Amino acid sequence: MGTGFISIWFLPLFSLLVFGISSAHFIPIRFPTPIAQFQAEKDSVSSPTGLYKEKFFTQILDHFNFNPQSYQTFQQRYLINDTFWGGPKKNAPIFLYTGNEGEIEWFAQNTGFMYDNAPRFKALIVFIEHRYYGKSIPFGGNEDVAKSNASTLGYLSSTQALADYATLITHLKNNLSATDSPVVVFGGSYGGMLAAWFRLKYPHVAIGALASSAPILGFVNLTSPYSFSKIITQDFRSESENCYKVLKGSWQQIEDTASQNGGLEKLRNSFKICKNYISGGALEGWLSTAWVYTAMTDYPTPSNFLNPMPAYPVKQMCKAIDDPTTGNDTFAKLYGAANVYYNYTGTATCFDLDDDSDTHGLGGWGWQACTEMILVTGGSDEESIFPPSDWSYDARASSCKFSFGVEPRPDWIPTEFGGHNIKRVLKRFGSNIIFFNGLRDPWSGGGVLSGISKSIVAIVAEKGAHHVDLRFATSEDPKWLQQVRKREVKIIAKWLSEYYHDLAHT
Ligand SMILES: *[C@@H]1O[C@H](CO)[C@@H](O)[C@H](O)[C@H]1NC(C)=O
Ligand SMILES: *[C@@H]1O[C@H](CO)[C@@H](O)[C@H](O)[C@H]1NC(C)=O
Ligand SMILES: *[C@@H]1O[C@H](CO)[C@@H](O)[C@H](O)[C@H]1NC(C)=O
Ligand SMILES: *[C@@H]1O[C@H](CO)[C@@H](O)[C@H](O)[C@H]1NC(C)=O
Ligand SMILES: *[C@@H]1O[C@H](CO)[C@@H](O)[C@H](O)[C@H]1NC(C)=O
Ligand SMILES: *[C@@H]1O[C@H](CO)[C@@H](O)[C@H](O)[C@H]1NC(C)=O
Repeated sequence: MGTGFISIWFLPLFSLLVFGISSAHFIPIRFPTPIAQFQAEKDSVSSPTGLYKEKFFTQILDHFNFNPQSYQTFQQRYLINDTFWGGPKKNAPIFLYTGNEGEIEWFAQNTGFMYDNAPRFKALIVFIEHRYYGKSIPFGGNEDVAKSNASTLGYLSSTQALADYATLITHLKNNLSATDSPVVVFGGSYGGMLAAWFRLKYPHVAIGALASSAPILGFVNLTSPYSFSKIITQDFRSESENCYKVLKGSWQQIEDTASQNGGLEKLRNSFKICKNYISGGALEGWLSTAWVYTAMTDYPTPSNFLNPMPAYPVKQMCKAIDDPTTGNDTFAKLYGAANVYYNYTGTATCFDLDDDSDTHGLGGWGWQACTEMILVTGGSDEESIFPPSDWSYDARASSCKFSFGVEPRPDWIPTEFGGHNIKRVLKRFGSNIIFFNGLRDPWSGGGVLSGISKSIVAIVAEKGAHHVDLRFATSEDPKWLQQVRKREVKIIAKWLSEYYHDLAHT
C-alpha cells in the first residue's frame, strides 16, 4: 500500500450507498454523498418535466404518533398532468409514481412509461416527491434546519414516505371526486421498493405496482454482499477478457505509481485532473464511480440519467480500453474509458476529483442509508474488477455513528416489509406486483428474479440495466425492451379490467 494514500472507497449509488471497505484504514462516508461530476452542460436533453404542473399538499410530519409535535405539517410537492385522463365519471385510472431519493423532476424526466401509456389507459399522471428531498422539506422548508441533527431527520423514513403517499393520493381522489378511480403505482430503484411495499401495505389504495429494479432483498442476510460487484465485473468481462484484465490490474498500477517520486504528478497529467492536489485513493474512487454507474445505466440508447452517455456505454468503455493505439499504456486506456462517463459531450476541460456537487438533491440518502436502508453492496472477491474487500457491517455502523450519532437498525426493513422466505409468504398473501430487473444492473442481485404467483410476476431482461423499462420509449429501442414494456402494459390492463369488473359487481 502506498504512503499517505487511502485505498478505500465508498460509492454512492445515485446515492444508493455503498462500496466498501475492509482493511485497517477507515474513512467516514462523506455526506451528502459525492457524485463525481464534470464541467459540462447539464440538461442537454430536452426536459419533459415541462409536461407537468407543480402542486403542493399540506402533509403531516409524523403519521405514527399523536403527540402535539407530530401535528406539524410541511409542504409536499407533486407533479400532475390530467390531459389524458378520462375523468372521475368514467373512474379512469391514476398512475402514481412513488418518488425516491431525489428531486421529483429528475424522476419525471427519466420515467416515460406512465406518460407513454397514459393515452391508452386515459390515465391521470401523478409524481409525488419523497419527504426531505427536492422542495418537500419539513421544518418550514428550511433544509438546514430539517437536516440539522438526528432529532429533525428522524421523520425521514420509508414508512413515513408511504404514509405520505397514501394520505396525499386519498385526499387528491376526494378532491377530484374520483374515489373509485383505481390507482396503479410505479417506481424505479428505491422508488420501486416503495411501489412494491405500497401495494403490500395499502392494498385498498393501490390496485397494483410496477416495481422496477427494486432491490427489496438487498438487505443484510438476504443477499450476498459480493453480488453487486460480481455483476459489474461480469458486465465488463462479457465485453472482452482484455477489458476485464486491464481494469482488474489497474489498481495496483495506480498505487505503485502514486507511491513513486513524481507519481502523483504523472497521474494528474495522465487523467487531465484539474487541481494540483490528487491522491491515489481519490483517483480510485473517481474511476470506480464511473465503472459502477456506467454498469448501472448501460442503456441501449443514448441517455442522460446521471451523466450524458452513449448507447451501450460499457461496450464503449471496453472499446476504449481495447483500443490498439494505446498499446499497453494502462492509464491512457483508463482515461479513454473514464471519458465515456465523464466527458461524453466533449466539453470537459479538466476533471475535478473533489467535485461532490449534488445536482439531483440526493443529500437525504445518507441518513436513510445509516438508519434503515442497510443495503449490502461492499464486498469484492478475487475475481472482481475492484480491489478485494470484505463487507463489514461494523464499519458501516461506526461510520454512521460518527456521521449522525445513530445506530443503524439492519433488521427493521425485513421486519416491517418481509423479505425472508418471500416466495412462501407472498404466494398466499400479496397480488398484482410486477418486479422488473435487468441482469446487467448490479442491483438485480437484490431483486425478485422469479415469479411468486400468478399475479406477482418477475420480468427479467438479460440485457437490461437499471429500470430501463421505465424510460421514455424511443424509436431505437431494441426488440427485447419493446417486448418487456408490452408485457407490462398487458398485465396492468388485466389488473384494471379485473378492478372494473369487481367495481361493477359489488
Ligand atoms: C400534459 O401533457 C400534454 C401532452 O403532452 C401537454 O400538452 C400538456 O401541456 C401537459 N399539461 C401540463 C399541465 O403540463
Ligand atoms: C436539532 O436541531 C434543531 C433545529 O436546528 C434544534 O432546535 C435542536 O436543539 C437540535 N437538537 C439537538 C439535540 O441538538
Ligand atoms: C383539495 O382542495 C382544497 C380546497 O380547494 C385545496 O386546498 C387542497 O390543496 C386540495 N388538495 C389536493 C391534494 O389537491
Ligand atoms: C509494452 O510492454 C512491453 C513489455 O513491458 C514492452 O516491451 C513494449 O515495448 C510495450 N509496448 C508499448 C507499445 O509500449
Ligand atoms: C473531453 O473531450 C474532448 C473531445 O474529445 C477533448 O478534447 C477534451 O480534452 C476532453 N476533456 C478531458 C478533460 O479529457
Ligand atoms: C445475520 O446473520 C448472522 C449469522 O446468522 C447473525 O449473526 C447476524 O446478527 C445477522 N444480522 C442481521 C442484521 O440480522
